[in-house]
Amino acid sequence: MPSLLMGALLVAWVPVWAAAGDASRSGPALGKPMSDASAEVSPAYIAADGRGLPDGSGDVDLGRELFAQHCQACHGAGGAGATADALSGAEEPLDSPWAEKTIGSYWPYAPKLFDFVQRSKPMNAPGSFSSEQVYALTAYLLYSNGIVEVGTRLDRATLSHIKMPNRDGFVRCYPEPEPGDPAWDHCFP
Ligand code: HEC
Repeated sequence: MPSLLMGALLVAWVPVWAAAGDASRSGPALGKPMSDASAEVSPAYIAADGRGLPDGSGDVDLGRELFAQHCQACHGAGGAGATADALSGAEEPLDSPWAEKTIGSYWPYAPKLFDFVQRSKPMNAPGSFSSEQVYALTAYLLYSNGIVEVGTRLDRATLSHIKMPNRDGFVRCYPEPEPGDPAWDHCFP
C-alpha cells in the first residue's frame, strides 16, 4: 500500500517545522537565529562582485611572509599542498577524472577568496587578521596561481576587477535551463 505509506511519512515529516509555530518559515527549522553579539564579531559578508570589501590594501610581499608564518605548515610551500589541500599549481584540468581544484583552476570569483580567508583563517583565531593582512594573503594566493604579478598591491577596486580563469566554467541549474540549452545536459545527465 504505497499511498498509505506516503501518508504516514508526510504526517511524520510536516510537524518538524510546523510545530515551531512560525508560519513564515519555509525550511526544516535547522540552526538558530544569530545573536546580536555574534553578528557584531562576524566579519562582513563579501559578495562575488566585491561588495562589502573594506578600505585598505595589501601586497604580495607581505602576503608571502604571512603565508610562510601562518599557512605553509598545512598548505605547503607556495600553496603546493601538504597535510591540507593544494591552493595552487593544478596540472590536471577540471574535466579530468583526477581534476585538481585549486584557487587558480576552480574558484570563479576573486573577492570570495578575501571573504574566505578573513572568515576562517588563521585556523586558531579566525577573523583576527587585519584588512591589510587579508588583502596581502589574497594577493599572494593569486600570485602563486599566476593570476597577478609579483609586486601587486590589492585593494577593493583592483580585487573586484580580477577575472578568475574559471569564471565561466560553472553551469547554473536553477532556475532550470530550457531543454535544448547546452546546460541541460550538464544539469540532468
Ligand atoms: C592547521 C592547518 C591549516 C593552516 C595552518 C591553514 N589552513 Fe587553510 N585549510 C586547511 C584545511 C584542512 C582546509 C580544508 C577545509 C576547509 O575548507 O576549512 C583549508 C582550506 C583552505 C582554503 C580553501 C581551499 C579551497 O579551494 O577550498 C584556503 C583558500 C585556505 N585554506 C587558505 C589558508 C591560508 C591563507 C592560511 C594561512 C593564513 C591557511 N589556509 C592556514 C588547513 C589549514
